[in-house]
Amino acid sequence: MRGVLVELDRVADEARDHLTTAYPDLTGRYEIVNGDMFQNVPARPQAVYLLSRVIHNYGDDQCAALLQRLASAMGESGPEAELFLMEHLLPEDPQADEAQLHPSHALDMIMMTLTVGGQERTRLHLSRLLTDAGFILPAAEAKPNLPAEMTLLIARLNPDASPPR
Ligand SMILES: C[S@@+](CC[C@H](N)C(=O)[O-])C[C@H]1O[C@@H](n2cnc3c(N)ncnc32)[C@H](O)[C@@H]1O
Repeated sequence: MRGVLVELDRVADEARDHLTTAYPDLTGRYEIVNGDMFQNVPARPQAVYLLSRVIHNYGDDQCAALLQRLASAMGESGPEAELFLMEHLLPEDPQADEAQLHPSHALDMIMMTLTVGGQERTRLHLSRLLTDAGFILPAAEAKPNLPAEMTLLIARLNPDASPPR
């Protein structure tokens, strides 16, 4: 397995320095691409695309643009390509007892104050964004209880959707 990290210049350069010195054994197993994910997402055959705590930085319109960019790269990767989305999902029913202390509520407020349009989302909200961008989200493929109470959603391109622009 090989990894490709797409990052803004300063972070990409720091990541490259850090990985080279702290994890020399990984040399050759990753590639760091300096770039803007809204402009260019590199396509690789049979790839898994991972967005971890990225979507929550943006409002719905920017999420739609980013997901369309990913759908376009995944179209080039082939039918096995998958999108892994890791986020702190808001409970569907915020009034439910077990929902009241979920950390996503506090994170939602932090995103509201630190970003323009950033927010935590429910699974339903994320599914809508994904569906509109040409993905399918099989119901069974949600894995809750990751560290920090994140959830992993696995999406694939919808073969019946019109190709992304
Ligand atoms: C909230 S952090 C998530 C970091 C990590 N994935 C995690 O789960 O902890 C968002 C990351 O996206 C990067 N980023 C922001 N805008 C970007 C862009 N236009 N293109 C590529 N990376 C970007 C930031 O530099 C930052 O490292």
